[in-house]
Amino acid sequence: MKFVRFLMKNSALANVPKHIDHFSKFSPSPLSIKQFLDFGSTNACEKTSFMFLRQELPVRLSNIMKEINLLPDRLLGTPSVQLVQSWYVQSLLDILEFYDKNPDDLRVLSSFTDALITIRNRHNDVVPTMAQGVIEYKESYLEDSITSQNVQYFLDRFYMSRISIRMLINQHTLIFDGTTNPAHPKHIGSIDPDCEVVNVIRDAYETAKLLCDQYYMDSPALEVDQYNVNGSGPVHIVYVPSHLYHMLFELFKNAMRATVENYESSSCLPSIKVKVALGSEDVTIKMSDKGGGVPLSKIDRLFSYMYSTAPTPHLGSSRGTPLAGFGYGLPISRLYAKYFQGDLQLYSMEGYGTDAVIYLKALSKDSVERLPVYNKSAWRHYQHSHEADDWCVPSSDPKNMAAHKIQQ
Ligand SMILES: Nc1ncnc2c1ncn2[C@@H]1O[C@H](COP(=O)(O)OP(=O)(O)O)[C@@H](O)[C@H]1O
Ligand SMILES: [Mg+2]
Repeated sequence: MKFVRFLMKNSALANVPKHIDHFSKFSPSPLSIKQFLDFGSTNACEKTSFMFLRQELPVRLSNIMKEINLLPDRLLGTPSVQLVQSWYVQSLLDILEFYDKNPDDLRVLSSFTDALITIRNRHNDVVPTMAQGVIEYKESYLEDSITSQNVQYFLDRFYMSRISIRMLINQHTLIFDGTTNPAHPKHIGSIDPDCEVVNVIRDAYETAKLLCDQYYMDSPALEVDQYNVNGSGPVHIVYVPSHLYHMLFELFKNAMRATVENYESSSCLPSIKVKVALGSEDVTIKMSDKGGGVPLSKIDRLFSYMYSTAPTPHLGSSRGTPLAGFGYGLPISRLYAKYFQGDLQLYSMEGYGTDAVIYLKALSKDSVERLPVYNKSAWRHYQHSHEADDWCVPSSDPKNMAAHKIQQ
């Protein structure tokens, strides 16, 4: 019996590349927050959701698995990336189990939900594990700028794909588990149809403040203002509060760290000012600190997965959540903003402070998932191109100018 199971498992594994080829030929289908809502509120039908997900999840998984395969061998071969890849293979196989199952059978629907929960748990540590792979790769090889651009391109798409897959899984498991969320009865899965932005801002501030007080024995105060195009009431949006919280929490930690370090020698810390504006198209949240800012030349680097100015905290460290460290705060927060067609940008005045701005769509019909798709132009990004830059490289040493000419 054991042997038969082993054979079956092996033949399933042998078919994986074929499945990936098949499902990666489909484009993922982006959903809008409005669609997520309509689906969860009016005609929530578990069977429809099941049939959509058993096709859509393999499509999203396979599209990104194609790109994992295009990573540089030295990164793909690290034990961490191998582990992540094995999770993706296993999860793809888990869902394909349901491909020929009867959607009218309630037991099928319930074991599908269990399978989704297993998959979600299996993938809990994808971000730190992948980060570990990148660290190993960075430590053992001097990375060139092309590979690090490829890694950046890949990780943005890979983590975006992961956010979207978790969103689908969360909606299905939360909506069809037969209970309502006692803390938030009005939520549709993970979406709050009436999310008061300032409440999320205050929550994120309080948690970041706890960490900041713990590390620095002090923390800046918060001042919030809001402007509502529809009148003077508080700004509400239809959104996933946990995503908004994630972004704000990261921005607060950064603003607090910069402020405390910039005002080390003075007795009073300037507050962090947050402004919220609701317009007809955008909800904009601007967080301003007086943390001394960042020079323009370094701004792009802050969104890089290969860069942080804080010492790397150790995984599983007993000191609790660090205030800063992996350098993933900004890039992942920007992905959350972009996931529903928003953005996150930093505007800094070196010597003074930084404005971090989160843009979200004001209308739920405009908040549509932004998803990577594997195709020819994605593929092209991973091919090494050694073409020269089409902008001159400034020479730091004018004496070398003659040599430079000859090189061209
Ligand atoms: N408001 C800010 N003021 C000054 N520097 C900042 C600010 N926000 C981010 N930074 C810089 O950007 C870097 C990257 O930030 P982040 O992605 O959150 O990673 P981490 O905080 O783990 O280093 C920080 O280490 C810090 O040097
Ligand atoms: Mg940070």
